[in-house]
Amino acid sequence: MKKLVIANFKMNPATAGETSDLVRSYGEKAKALEKVEFVAAPPFIFLLEILNKGLEVAAQDCFYEDSGAYTGEISPLALQKLGVQYVIIGHSERRRMGETDEIIGKKLQAAIRNGLIPVLCVGETQAEKEAGQREAVLKQQLSQALGNWASAIRDFQLVVAYEPIWAIGTGLACEPDEANRAMEFILNETKKIIKDVKMIIIYGGSVDANNLKGFLVKPNISGALVGGASLKKEEFAKILEIANSV
Ligand code: 13P
Repeated sequence: MKKLVIANFKMNPATAGETSDLVRSYGEKAKALEKVEFVAAPPFIFLLEILNKGLEVAAQDCFYEDSGAYTGEISPLALQKLGVQYVIIGHSERRRMGETDEIIGKKLQAAIRNGLIPVLCVGETQAEKEAGQREAVLKQQLSQALGNWASAIRDFQLVVAYEPIWAIGTGLACEPDEANRAMEFILNETKKIIKDVKMIIIYGGSVDANNLKGFLVKPNISGALVGGASLKKEEFAKILEIANSV
């Protein structure tokens, strides 16, 4: 199976030209690599920049209604009509701005209803890790987001990104064995909620060209959600090559 590598540009870069430049180089590289599925997650206003190059994209969020009086929100229906394939939901940077598990659950349903593949982000804080609460936190995030609706849905695709909050943007990535154990837990918990889900789990949090391979050789880790390193052309080109070599 191909490794899924998602470049989360977050709120960068500032112009369409810079976005286009980054993605052109990655896209050319990725098209030549058979074992990698490359997906770019730019700010909303640059999605077309990437889609027009024939590459796959992820939106960084979406709203839970398809249309209506919701100033400033982005419709999942509009994303699907634009040609978007994936949508990141529940990123910790959005949870920090007030997004609750209940909202995340509604957004997941909206994404699936519109044929988008959700990339559900879960992960614990440093304090929760130190208090030995990692599994309890993951269980709560999964059960609240997938709630009692998901078991009724058949045959949908789900990507879960395990992104320990303490590893995001800190340069302190999780140990691959530790991440693999957390992902096994995520897999088992999700299967308790949804019986026949097509699911993969990817890792995010200070991924770079030096540590990526250590993650991708683990049995439960099917790819990476890359933040900072995805804005560095040479580093990310190496990341794509490494993902193709595992
Ligand atoms: P970094 O790779 O910069 O730690 O960010 C990870 C992340 O949040 C990806 O969604």
